[in-house]
Amino acid sequence: MKCVVINGTEQKGCTYMLKEIFLDELKPEQLSEFYLPKDAPDYCTGCKLCFMKGESLCPHHKKVAPIWQAMLEADLIVFAYPVYVLRTPGHVKSLLDHLGVHWCAHRPDPKMFNKTAAIITQSIGAPNNDAQKDVKTSLNWLGVPRVKKIGFGMMEGVIWNEISEKRRNRFESKIRYFARQFQDIKPAAMSLNTKFIFEMCRMMQNNLLKNNPKNKELSVDLKHWLEQGWIERK
Ligand SMILES: Cc1cc2nc3c(=O)[nH]c(=O)nc-3n(C[C@H](O)[C@H](O)[C@H](O)COP(=O)(O)O)c2cc1C
Repeated sequence: MKCVVINGTEQKGCTYMLKEIFLDELKPEQLSEFYLPKDAPDYCTGCKLCFMKGESLCPHHKKVAPIWQAMLEADLIVFAYPVYVLRTPGHVKSLLDHLGVHWCAHRPDPKMFNKTAAIITQSIGAPNNDAQKDVKTSLNWLGVPRVKKIGFGMMEGVIWNEISEKRRNRFESKIRYFARQFQDIKPAAMSLNTKFIFEMCRMMQNNLLKNNPKNKELSVDLKHWLEQGWIERK
């Protein structure tokens, strides 16, 4: 199995330890890892070149391309990050913003339609749901149908070694159990949610095509949908 991990912190702390235990149990044959903010693109400038002309013209393409490529090649996409002010850390959101061009509403890659993803988060004690939702929403709109999540509350402190052994052992058995669910993953079928998103976008692209003036060049999004055979000229 090929696995890519997008680490939402460079700290060798609680997130890192949980992710390492996860990988120790998973034992992927191939692994690539990115550490944000070091490997994250700068903030999206809003130039819209990705949407209008092509993602290779993005000023941050050099940073985004290897991450996107690794996601396309992976059987399992893992996001592991701490909760920051109840949400996903800004540098993770910055990466997600750059992937908007591959959302179903624009130029989705069919390779994403049968992928599996895992989201691993932890906080001191706050609920993890909203922080997980930021990434899950993006993954679903990228076309990923199977997204599983696990969240932890450290409670006793934020330094891994200062947390009691009993509590760390409990975390360890929980994350090992979670990892075992991915050991024999098969390509996922499109979920109701991703089917709905895709069909809604197909309707939108069909309308755009129908209303595109004959003398006006097609947008890069429309060309992509036509090339993929998802819409056709009548
Ligand atoms: C900027 C920042 C914001 C945070 N916000 C929250 C929060 O809202 N709720 C919470 O329970 N923990 C919060 N934390 C704690 C983290 O979720 C995490 O437990 C801590 O950073 C340890 O993780 P690490 O060892 O992987 O760095 C925050 C930490 C940082 C650095």
